[in-house]
Amino acid sequence: MKVALVGMGPIGSMHVDNITSGKIPDCELVAVCDTRKIENPKLEGKKIYSDIDALLADKDVESVIISTPSFTHFDLACKVLNAGKNVLVEKPMALCTADILKIDALAKEKKLTAAVMLNQRTNPMYARIRQLVKDGELGKINRVSWNMTNWYRPDVYYKCNTWRGTFKGEAGGVLINQGIHNIDAFAWIFGLPQTLRAWCKFGKYHDIEVEDEVSAFMEYSENMTATFITSSGEHPGTNRFEISGDKGYIVAEDGKLLKKYMFKDTTLSDYTKNTKYVFGTPETEYSQEEFSDKGLQHVGVLRNFVNSINGKEELLYSPAQGYLSVCLANAMLLSTWTNSDIKFPFNDAAYAALLAEKTANSKLRTETVKDCIMDFGKSFR
Ligand SMILES: NC(=O)c1ccc[n+]([C@@H]2O[C@H](COP(=O)([O-])OP(=O)(O)OC[C@H]3O[C@@H](n4cnc5c(N)ncnc54)[C@H](O)[C@@H]3O)[C@@H](O)[C@H]2O)c1
Repeated sequence: MKVALVGMGPIGSMHVDNITSGKIPDCELVAVCDTRKIENPKLEGKKIYSDIDALLADKDVESVIISTPSFTHFDLACKVLNAGKNVLVEKPMALCTADILKIDALAKEKKLTAAVMLNQRTNPMYARIRQLVKDGELGKINRVSWNMTNWYRPDVYYKCNTWRGTFKGEAGGVLINQGIHNIDAFAWIFGLPQTLRAWCKFGKYHDIEVEDEVSAFMEYSENMTATFITSSGEHPGTNRFEISGDKGYIVAEDGKLLKKYMFKDTTLSDYTKNTKYVFGTPETEYSQEEFSDKGLQHVGVLRNFVNSINGKEELLYSPAQGYLSVCLANAMLLSTWTNSDIKFPFNDAAYAALLAEKTANSKLRTETVKDCIMDFGKSFR
């Protein structure tokens, strides 16, 4: 498949490296596009455009990867689909769920593939946790808690850029930018809740208008409850994901270590009902699994995108999947703004209307800090 990439920032450059080094079979990079002048020796022999319309007129290009700032994703994805090409969009697929639904409808109408970079789903640890829940090994899930507070960013992270940390540029902060990876894994495992209540703090740690600390509480069917806490202002923070089930209890720490405590010869509910020991606790069998490898990440998503278009695999990263994390992020903001519980199915239109108001009162940064060091490899958690 002949692909083009639009947006040669740090992540776009990483996708170019992955494609040009042959990590994506059956995929050839034929062109790139950036509104800035691009100098990259890996692009020798590739067509370079400064305007997406010119790139889309190129008959060689079959599919396009969008890795531009988040606020451009929706318009550019629609342009690509309207030009008759498949599109893979960086996360978030769009800034609000209503726009993701429109991308999905357009792709279906044009009989093209639209996909989103949900790279954390390739992380073997999250896949293993999902399997433990879906296979019923942990029994009925009672409570979940994910504290993901190690997304620390200093002020310069926002100030070296026009769009980060603004409602106009990304419609949020730690939720839609960093924590989206975790809420995607969360929604991949548990789906969307019935009700959500969240408390976001805006510009608590940084000179930004968007949220940099979030505490959310969710209720699912069968009395399952969940909390999600994230922050880009704390250090060192923690990544602790706990799941309390009727057959076992797991704790995943730092994205590396999965601790399992399985109840022996009983379930928790049976033990609770039947034991005679006033201060007894059910016996557990402990085991642990270590995950030193974070999986294929962006390469895995790119491979699936190409293979699904070539009819070799089912598409795993569809707009319907991209909807889930954006829905949770949108719902957490909506709950804070309206000081109320949010019920699901989510009211996509109500959120889009409120976001339009916030965006109308927001501006991209006109001045950016030039004296900054972009150590991009350290951005991942
Ligand atoms: N999946 C991940 O792990 C991951 C990691 C980092 C960033 N991202 C996402 O990737 C996107 C880009 O992030 P970044 O940090 O590289 O941003 P960036 O601002 O550093 O780079 C974006 C690039 O796009 C170019 N650009 C902007 N508008 C354009 C247009 N209309 N046409 C062509 N080029 C245009 C800019 O000139 C710039 O070179 C964001 O949406 C971000 O959320 C994803």
